[in-house]
Amino acid sequence: MENKKIILSGIQPSGAMTLGTYIGALRNWASLADEYDCYYMIVDMHAIVARQVPATLRKTPFEQLAQYIACGLDPEKNTLFIQSHVLAHAQLSWVLNCYTMFGELSRMTQFKDKSSRNEENINAGLFTYPVLQAADILLYNADLVPVGADQKQHVELTRDIAVRFNGIYGDVFKLPEPYIPKVGARIMDLQTPINKMSKSDIADGGCVLILDKPEDIMRSFKRAVTDSETSVRFDTENKPGISNLMQIYSVCTGKEFSTIESEFDGKGYGDFKKQVGEAVVELFRPIREESEKLLADKAYLESVFKAGAEKASYSANKTLRKVYKKIGFIEKPR
Ligand code: TRP
Repeated sequence: MENKKIILSGIQPSGAMTLGTYIGALRNWASLADEYDCYYMIVDMHAIVARQVPATLRKTPFEQLAQYIACGLDPEKNTLFIQSHVLAHAQLSWVLNCYTMFGELSRMTQFKDKSSRNEENINAGLFTYPVLQAADILLYNADLVPVGADQKQHVELTRDIAVRFNGIYGDVFKLPEPYIPKVGARIMDLQTPINKMSKSDIADGGCVLILDKPEDIMRSFKRAVTDSETSVRFDTENKPGISNLMQIYSVCTGKEFSTIESEFDGKGYGDFKKQVGEAVVELFRPIREESEKLLADKAYLESVFKAGAEKASYSANKTLRKVYKKIGFIEKPR
């Protein structure tokens, strides 16, 4: 138990988790619990770098937790918690701010992207977002950080900050590695299969949610963009739509691409899209039902968050105390 490697990741609170998040993240996370000591948090503090509706932010972490558990993240085996419940995140984040360079943060592609798309709210939190993320990771001595490819730069910055800090004070932080899943790391939008599936494109049906109703899922797949050929064949460059559907179908059914290619040999795209839709409906049916059951039991979900925050605080505070001591802060007399 003690010697297990530590995994930590976070997702922004959202009641609407996508098929892409399921395939790229949640599905893999559930399978890691026996081998690793896993911490998964709902990063409400990161979420407020963009303006949030308070009533929504009060609700979405519950919806997200229900879906985490329904997707197989057993709260007995994983530490599931809300970032703002563990005070050490804010505390270490401030310290690390003082060991992170303005130039480093200016080079973060996510910051450049988000600030150029959101010119009316380029707040300091958006700029120092990666520092809070570094605190998240370093507090738990995480070995591996499962993230999408877009977050790799933030994990690398975390290492740079840790190396700088360790260089001054000795071995305080463990250096984390990003852990990027190979299969299904990039499930694409069904309408624009050259873009990653994202909640921001929900309106046109390109994005499928875990909690979508079966008829909505079927509609999204029936309307999925394909190409002008007729053969189901894996070729991400020339056939991004079909290749994406093949990835999804492969995850749902466990079938290899070659098996899928022969299964649909000579059949039309219409048939294929319908089968993929049905496979996703069946994949999500038990998850949706379980999520709904869990959501009706708020007291249970609260107990999970409470236990998670206690366990997380214990580890996090150990690291924070060490850091405070190293930098010379006087311990509060008891
Ligand atoms: N920045 C991550 C994202 O947008 C979310 C996140 C916050 C995170 N803290 C983290 C991921 C710590 C991994 C580890 O996806």
